[in-house]
Amino acid sequence: MLNGRRILVGVTGGIAAYKTAELVRLLIKAGADVRVVMTSGGQEFITPLTMQALSGNPVHTHLLDTDAEAGMGHIELAKWADLVVIAPASADFIARISAGMANDLLTTLCLATEAPIALAPAMNQAMWKNRRTQRNIEALSDDPKLFIWGPADGEQACGDIGAGRMLEPEQLAGRVKGHFDHGFLHGKKVVITAGPTREAIDPVRYISNHSSGKMGYALAIAARDAGAQVELVSGPVAIPAPEGVETIYVSSASTMLEAAQNAVDKGCDIFIASAAVADYRPDEIQEQKIKKSQDKMVIELIKNPDIVATIAARKDRPFTVGFAAETQDVVAYAEGKLQRKKLDMIVANDVSDQRIGFNSENNEATVLWNGGCQSFSLQSKSLLAVNIMALIASRISS
Ligand code: PMT
Repeated sequence: MLNGRRILVGVTGGIAAYKTAELVRLLIKAGADVRVVMTSGGQEFITPLTMQALSGNPVHTHLLDTDAEAGMGHIELAKWADLVVIAPASADFIARISAGMANDLLTTLCLATEAPIALAPAMNQAMWKNRRTQRNIEALSDDPKLFIWGPADGEQACGDIGAGRMLEPEQLAGRVKGHFDHGFLHGKKVVITAGPTREAIDPVRYISNHSSGKMGYALAIAARDAGAQVELVSGPVAIPAPEGVETIYVSSASTMLEAAQNAVDKGCDIFIASAAVADYRPDEIQEQKIKKSQDKMVIELIKNPDIVATIAARKDRPFTVGFAAETQDVVAYAEGKLQRKKLDMIVANDVSDQRIGFNSENNEATVLWNGGCQSFSLQSKSLLAVNIMALIASRISS
């Protein structure tokens, strides 16, 4: 799958460096031409000799090395690469490329190359969470030719538990293949619901919620950037329609259901329900504005149709992904919804936390499917959307 692809693998200082040997082996097995560059920190964890044996090429370690420059000089190496993969990418390395430094061979190559760069962060969970690291990641996320693959959550070499583990070599090799496959969702049709619904009480009033649409719109952009054809069914929001995404505006749950069904009727591989759909609507919509006459009033509500469950129940069902907006026992309630609505996957987020969930720039989620789960620590909704789309793509192809 990677025949003739030229991949420059950068190894920086971290215990996960031993896994990079397996990544190089997998890339070679897939047909890639691999060159390895190691920082001095990287060489403390794994030897250049190992990487040379696995890649079948000399390993580059120094910027000012006359012998290496006489072979393939550093600028030539930067031009040679189709893709640069830094695995593991340490906190120090991330800080240095974020600052645009060129104080060793690998940072210099990252500045000199025009190839896309993928970083696979690996570090202690506290270092990953640290504001300065997050600021560096956020700055790098603005670069359209720079991807951040991971990190995963879990037990760490130091005994801590949390986000900071490097993605496994198989996952990284999968991302590399996906990258060259015209975007990992090339040829897929994705339908996404986003934003709130409004349930009319009378001509001037409605029941709604705090959804801004940011999460759903970020998913639509991530799916589009991964090569998919995307249709977005959006409740009323204040953000512009993403370029290159067919956006259908609706208001109530019933109109959202109708638009979602129409979109799926046209053919759909992946359906993602990120909209905050009102569970109930007024039984009757008053034709005229209700007058303020009594001290108390009762509005009778009836249940709305469940959009995601309706799509999941279709004979021609797409891969169906729901969201679970919870305020307590987040994962347990999400697991219940995964089973009850017969979904392929559910993204659980805690909407009681002001930093994440409704109308915030960031989110934190646990994604569940039958037989597995993956957690994503606090990150921008855009980055989370890319991670969710990549996870969906890997579940579809597994
Ligand atoms: O829009 P933002 O401000 O960015 O906020 C993002 C978000 C918090 C809205 C989003 O991350 C989120 O959690 N969306 C799901 C909100 C929700 O309605 O959750 P729920 O647990 O009540 O519903 C479970 C699932 O069923 C959801 O996929 C929902 O879209 C779907 N549903 C619910 C009711 C209904 N009648 N039809 C549905 O399809």
